[in-house]
Amino acid sequence: MQNSILEQLPSILEDLKPVARKAGQKILKYYGDNIIVSLKSDQSPLTQADTAANTIIVSFLRSRFPDHAILSEESKDDKSRLENDFCWIVDPLDGTKEFIKRNDEFTVNIALAYKHRVILGIIYAPVLEELYYAAEGIGTFLEIADKPPIKLHVNSKTTDLTVVSSRSHKSEKLVSLLSQHRDKIKSEVSKGSSLKGCLVARGDAEIYYRFGYTMEWDTAAMQCIVEQAGGIFRQMDDSEMLYNRVNSLNEKGFYILNSIQNALHQDQIKNPQEQAKKSQNQVENLQNQTNNSRNIKWHEGKVNRSDRLSLLGQKNFVLWFTGLSGSGKSTIAVALERELFKQGKLAYRLDGDNIRHGLNADLGFTPKERNENLRRIIEVSKLFYDAGVIVLVSFISPYRKIRAAARSAIGNSDFYEIYVKASVKTCQQRDPKGLYKKAIAGEISDFTGVSASAPYEEPLNPEITIDTEEVGVDQAVSMILERLQADGK
Ligand code: ADX
Repeated sequence: MQNSILEQLPSILEDLKPVARKAGQKILKYYGDNIIVSLKSDQSPLTQADTAANTIIVSFLRSRFPDHAILSEESKDDKSRLENDFCWIVDPLDGTKEFIKRNDEFTVNIALAYKHRVILGIIYAPVLEELYYAAEGIGTFLEIADKPPIKLHVNSKTTDLTVVSSRSHKSEKLVSLLSQHRDKIKSEVSKGSSLKGCLVARGDAEIYYRFGYTMEWDTAAMQCIVEQAGGIFRQMDDSEMLYNRVNSLNEKGFYILNSIQNALHQDQIKNPQEQAKKSQNQVENLQNQTNNSRNIKWHEGKVNRSDRLSLLGQKNFVLWFTGLSGSGKSTIAVALERELFKQGKLAYRLDGDNIRHGLNADLGFTPKERNENLRRIIEVSKLFYDAGVIVLVSFISPYRKIRAAARSAIGNSDFYEIYVKASVKTCQQRDPKGLYKKAIAGEISDFTGVSASAPYEEPLNPEITIDTEEVGVDQAVSMILERLQADGK
């Protein structure tokens, strides 16, 4: 690694600490008593909290490090980052559920990756006034309120272990893994957001396993804080977690330990040489994937989106309909497209069933295939959006993380998550394609809402919710048009 950057890390940390605190203070302004009520109104405070904190962090990073790239949950993803050795990875508000539930365990996360490896991380929990920070070669520290920093280190326990688990959910895999190791485990504690990793870093817990999906910005700062405190952070297949990738979804899951001895999946762990070799290959593969190495260069045109919008005489945005099969996504999108057309606006529908006939005909319904299905649709939406067309996307899109990735690809201000809500029971009764009947009879596997392997994660903070058990198609179309009008679209 460049020596100069390593030498700069202490001063970079000093500059960033007040920025993380300032972003946290800003979030607290939206953490009032009326949070749940306000969440349902048009301009949700949650989004405002995210955006306001993001602006503070990103504008600082841009002015202080103009040559570095930034990947943030709340900013449009600029893929030119892939060609940059330095990439800041930001989650301005991690722990949305904790924020909504007001249990105080949400955090601001800032990390720096150099050549795909995380070398600096900051986590700030504004309510708890806990600031965790770490950098390569320096270690991990905690400042509580205005007290002096304490150096953190994982503990060395190998018996009577404490496992950290998520507040909101525990996967079946985790439950089964824990039940096989009852002899080692003394207790379990729940924590929200990236504070789970901090708990291991400070020596108050020893084990955290996460099987589900996360995004790069959920783990980057936490990984640095754990590793610099002497802990272990690896993906579930024991490979190293690398950053600034084409696909920001962490698909493999990960685990955090105070010591490798305490791994609950001991039988699957590879020897250290094999692991190191695998890590090196991974870094090389990632570097080969970057556009520079593949000799691909972005070729700028002489007409841009705003020129095309002037030509079409319209504003454009992406309406992302999510909901169970049979909830009414496509029906509403079809009616809305027709209405927009009548108003002289060019819109285009991307529909799950239709796209799976062509572009995505090679994909099924496992989590991996759904993610690939949606990754491609995010890219197609971006192209249509850039073309100046209003994009109506109707896919089940069951995972929050992938919907967050879609939002970040388009940018918050032109992205509308529309939750088309109907219970599994109602969808089963409607069953327009007879698929629920087949799924219940076991003729279709991985069926959303029916199979345990195919959960639907309800949106936490959609721009619009349409409960199709209450609202008809025409009213749904009006609700969307009214919201767009209110936003000046
Ligand atoms: S997504 O989960 O990957 O977003 P998508 O919207 O593309 O799903 O496709 C869903 C459509 O495929 C459903 O409306 C239904 O008609 C059909 N389908 C076939 N098998 C399944 C399944 N196992 N789960 C959900 N939908 C299925």
